[in-house]
Amino acid sequence: MKLLSLFFVTVFGTPVVLWHGMGDNCCHSFSMGAVSKMIREKVETVNYVKSLMIGDSEASDTSNGFLMPVFQQVELACQQIQADPELQEGYHAIGFSQGGQFLRALAQTCPSPPMKNLISIGGQHQGIFGFPKCPNGSSICEYVRKMLNWGAYSSFIQSHLVQAQYWHDPLQEEEYKQYSQFIAVVNNEREFNQTFKENLEKLENLVLVKFAKDTMVVPKESSHFGYYAPGQDSDILAYNDTELFTEDRIGLKTLDTAGKVHFFTFAGDHLRFTDEEFMQNLAQFLP
Ligand SMILES: *[C@@H]1O[C@H](CO)[C@@H](O)[C@H](O)[C@H]1NC(C)=O
Ligand SMILES: *[C@@H]1O[C@H](CO)[C@@H](O)[C@H](O)[C@H]1NC(C)=O
Ligand SMILES: *[C@@H]1O[C@H](CO)[C@@H](O)[C@H](O)[C@H]1NC(C)=O
Repeated sequence: MKLLSLFFVTVFGTPVVLWHGMGDNCCHSFSMGAVSKMIREKVETVNYVKSLMIGDSEASDTSNGFLMPVFQQVELACQQIQADPELQEGYHAIGFSQGGQFLRALAQTCPSPPMKNLISIGGQHQGIFGFPKCPNGSSICEYVRKMLNWGAYSSFIQSHLVQAQYWHDPLQEEEYKQYSQFIAVVNNEREFNQTFKENLEKLENLVLVKFAKDTMVVPKESSHFGYYAPGQDSDILAYNDTELFTEDRIGLKTLDTAGKVHFFTFAGDHLRFTDEEFMQNLAQFLP
């Protein structure tokens, strides 16, 4: 049975790796479990789906989504992927919310085995500046919001709070560039790392989904690499007007020029989409 499934994976399709969002974990039947099942049942080309678990239990996976420094999580994800025999020929990746930018960092730092297509659903690729709505009943999320408001760029909070690591305050661009331990680094806004760029350029497709009524990601354009123009927090630059793009800091312009970046806007609130929306728009990127 095992041999047979390996055979089919190799011959008929590319496996898929999922990374869940904040407050979620690898394996809830109603979230990643449902997505994994939907993909296995409805996307004929896919036979193997791995939902990343960061830590040694579902509970620690959830808390690591708040507490474990992002690059450490990305390193654990890289190790898991390198250890999985089903993924050695390469894989497609689908990230949900913060899982979107974490998988993008994985593509930039962990080139082997290769990530082929990356689908980011409601990710925050330029960071966030606002945390208006915590998942229902999540007291840890309320705590996160208080800490961010208290001092997102203090070294203690940067080191102990995942969401601070992608907090991008356009009114404090210098502090952001200097102290952000994740998103400024991976966006090559601190020291320029050529490897981050070269690795991202290896993607076959980068698929970016934004939610038109997103009340969780502020600004929601961050899902498309758009962001506030520096120095203020009302005007939004489209992805291709940001410096990250015009200076081609991470290879986004190279990919876009090659027709490899695909933008979708889904109608609903954060991560609210139907199987039909997924199948009609995104399944084509799981060949
Ligand atoms: C650049 O990124 C690569 C991949 O993560 C890493 O191995 C290397 O140490 C980084 N270089 C610098 C100068 O930080
Ligand atoms: C939160 O969840 C509770 C119980 O499931 C529900 O009654 C309540 O309406 C929810 N609140 C919001 C704001 O969604
Ligand atoms: C930016 O992208 C939009 C949408 O793809 C396009 O219409 C516009 O011409 C682009 N702007 C520049 C400056 O390339």
